[in-house]
Amino acid sequence: MNQKENYIAVFDSGVGGLSVLRHLRDQLPGERFAYFGDSANAPYGTRSREEVCRLTLAAAERLMSRGLKALVVACNTATSAAINELRRVYPDLIVVGIEPALKLACDRFPGGRIGVMATPMTLREEKFASLEHRYEHACRIFELPAPGLVELVEAGKADGPEALALLEQLLGPLRGKLDALVLGCTHYPFAARAISRVLGEEVALLDGGEGTARETRRRLAQAGLLENGEGTLILENSSPDPALLALSRQLLEIQ
Ligand code: DGL
Repeated sequence: MNQKENYIAVFDSGVGGLSVLRHLRDQLPGERFAYFGDSANAPYGTRSREEVCRLTLAAAERLMSRGLKALVVACNTATSAAINELRRVYPDLIVVGIEPALKLACDRFPGGRIGVMATPMTLREEKFASLEHRYEHACRIFELPAPGLVELVEAGKADGPEALALLEQLLGPLRGKLDALVLGCTHYPFAARAISRVLGEEVALLDGGEGTARETRRRLAQAGLLENGEGTLILENSSPDPALLALSRQLLEIQ
């Protein structure tokens, strides 16, 4: 494999996938990462499946020109819509997706009351229906579509009064009724503080970022493709607004 084929690309509809990239960089410090956020087209979660599939394939094609050994789809919505198609188009590439961390939640809280907050599209898709079906006897599941929150995270307002008002409306009625909340959209970990303010610190917030990074590491190791280099990062965004890259850098620093 030559130098040009050494990147691990990480893709999301916007800045959300940075919550996964943090774990990837922790677990794979010697790798070269190329992150692409499609903020010009965000949010994906309120679009049709066909649109999300088309946008995801276009983003993958753009990233492929760099030369990749792996593609991490750090977006639950794009994974639901396009992971099968991506694997069909790029059969030789390691393609890792993300799904709401329902297994983790049910393992930690057997018989518990688990909220799953995600985009309308993720919750509507077949992939989530089969995941839910697998765990519906192990715990009590509350589906919580949260349109509007992604836009606030993209605007750097994940902690502001608008986010609190939206979260109060969505989660307020469940206060005292949940053991855990699955953050089934990669943008939501950036709103974790506001979510805990509404639900209470005692409710565990769980996301799939760490598990996705672990799976990426496992797949690379299995293929003998782990690299122990300097560790580099290229950040790109489809939005012409420089505020998005500035926000991306800022979000990456929050641990
Ligand atoms: N970050 C994406 C996810 O994990 C979705 C955000 C969007 O709606 O664009 O689902």
